[in-house]
Amino acid sequence: MNIVGIDKIGVYVPPQYLDMTVLAQARGIVPEKLTIGIGQEKMAVPALYEDVVTMAANAAKMILTDEDKATIDQLIVASESAFDYSKSIATFVHELLNIQPYCKAYEMKQACYGATAGILSACDYVRLRPDRKVLVIATDIARYGLKSAGEPTQGAGAVAMLISANPKILAIEPESISYTTHQFDFWRPSYSSVAFVDGKFSTELYQQSFIEVMQRGIQLIPEKLQKLEAVIFHLPFSKMGKKALEALNQSTIEHELPLTKWSDHYEMSTQLGKVVGNIYTGSLYLSLMSLLAYDTQLKAGQTVGLFSYGSGAVSELLIGTLQEDYHQALHHSVVESMLDNRQSLTIEAYETMFEQSLPISDEVVQVPINLDNVQGFYLESIEHHQRRYNFK
Ligand code: HMG
Repeated sequence: MNIVGIDKIGVYVPPQYLDMTVLAQARGIVPEKLTIGIGQEKMAVPALYEDVVTMAANAAKMILTDEDKATIDQLIVASESAFDYSKSIATFVHELLNIQPYCKAYEMKQACYGATAGILSACDYVRLRPDRKVLVIATDIARYGLKSAGEPTQGAGAVAMLISANPKILAIEPESISYTTHQFDFWRPSYSSVAFVDGKFSTELYQQSFIEVMQRGIQLIPEKLQKLEAVIFHLPFSKMGKKALEALNQSTIEHELPLTKWSDHYEMSTQLGKVVGNIYTGSLYLSLMSLLAYDTQLKAGQTVGLFSYGSGAVSELLIGTLQEDYHQALHHSVVESMLDNRQSLTIEAYETMFEQSLPISDEVVQVPINLDNVQGFYLESIEHHQRRYNFK
């Protein structure tokens, strides 16, 4: 069988952030509740000229060559922050990236799980057609509302992954373990611009879903699980995966899983999520980038478990094998310089940005924008309800 998986990863994060100590001070809580209690340091805040299309296109642009664009047969965009019920984000991104026209472009949705469905479908496609590629992009803006309990767990960003045969970063196994349960832990009805969430229940359901998946994995593929060098997580906040590992450790399930080793690797997988926040569909893959960039103990040939979770709720454990020279293929210095060049916001600036929106009009709406601050794709205007983008 052909070896397929992630050949390239590109990340985009907006150029503004809010520091958790600034947020804590404004909300009258001790900073440690956020920095230690949930383990977050900063959260990315998108500007009005950024949306799920610009972030997706910016994440992908940095990794694609002309040869890739001519070989991509599918563009799958996963998101739960789309602005259109019919036209997919993928068709906009297809045009902006100038991908060959005989590619099919579409969107995937199941809360934060969507990109995982996209990746597995992409891998199946490429396994049968090893000379072709699929681009999967996760792009989201997490919004809970000012002064809400979920406010410190907001964020924004996109992760683009090129799926190919003989990938340079991570080969993904065809076998995975999934679990679905119909629940209202977190959801966003179409009439609401912010998510509804039952915070405590959502963290419990996440942990329970992890236990369900691992329990089934122990029945079906015990040796594969025992061999995993590290397990990484969807991280709505950086402490969530740790809570899941602890819950498994305290459960009554009999197993011989190397939980201590997984806990040792865990910290390095949270470095990027801690300073970006929850980016929903892209969060697990930001954890992957973080682990591969900063964990110097990992070696090619080792296997990593990827725990994907999307409220509602669907979860799945994927298994990936680190490829020779995966570290050189990462381009994580690009992500680091993007993070280093971000601007810190005051609480007033953040609240203004959170509340502003573009008017709904039958005419032409120009997006107020200072082009000095812009790099890459941006939303320029909405003309007769059609979004127009530009590049700088
Ligand atoms: P909260 O009620 O503000 O916080 O909500 P808390 O009272 O539960 O405290 C949080 C932690 O801080 C606790 O730690 C406290 O002990 C600790 P824990 O007991 O849980 O280990 N703490 C302190 N630590 C140090 N020093 C102190 C201090 N004070 C307190 N002084 C909550 C927290 C996460 C519930 C809230 O932020 C929220 O509702 N967030 C949004 C929902 C969410 O992220 N859920 C996670 C699972 S669901 C998921 O992952 C899916 C999702 O990504 C969406 C999708 O799939 O699309 C969300």
